[in-house]
Amino acid sequence: VMTACGSAFYAAMVGRYWLEEVARLPVDIDVASEMRYRNPPLTPGSLGLLISQSGETADTLAALRALREKSVHILSVLNVEHSSMARESDVVLGTVAGPEISVASTKAFTAQLTVLACLAIATARSRGVLDPLKEEELVSALLDLPSRTAEIFKQGEAIRNMAKIVAEARDVLYLGRGSLFPIAMEGALKLKEISYIHAEAYAAGEM
Ligand code: F6R
Repeated sequence: VMTACGSAFYAAMVGRYWLEEVARLPVDIDVASEMRYRNPPLTPGSLGLLISQSGETADTLAALRALREKSVHILSVLNVEHSSMARESDVVLGTVAGPEISVASTKAFTAQLTVLACLAIATARSRGVLDPLKEEELVSALLDLPSRTAEIFKQGEAIRNMAKIVAEARDVLYLGRGSLFPIAMEGALKLKEISYIHAEAYAAGEM
């Protein structure tokens, strides 16, 4: 059962695709502000997987406690390792993104995805459902991330030109399918937070 708020929730949604696709593990997911008021029937051995940069978000902490009451194990993916959520989790996977200096959160999101990718690969391996060649391919894609990220920053001029167009917009629709649907949601959230331009994400097929 995965839960989180805001950007961390969108990272969780991407993580669900990976845990289902790579590790063949069934996942239930909801925003923490809903999860804390739901009463999902959980089978023994279920795992609560919570994600938070700060480890202090009130709804995520409340969802953690609600899951804990159901006697499930709690694994948290956190950036602040000495936080309330860290203290109340059985296991913490650190995102090691360093302190959050400014909004909007970007590096925390990227680091959360990286940890979730590693978790999906390791889970798949321990469940015996990952072909070694596929594992090699996934790990090498992860190792390529820093150079792929550097490539994006080389496109500064194209990004500046695009920003001029977007700045004139009243509304922006972000579309994505599969694991890119939550990325579209994260994109829309970032634009709203930073520019105050109305933005909305749609599952591409819904259009
Ligand atoms: C997005 C943003 C918020 C947080 C959300 C969860 O840029 O900053 O949506 O992602 O409040 O915060 P954490 O991850 O600290 O639980």
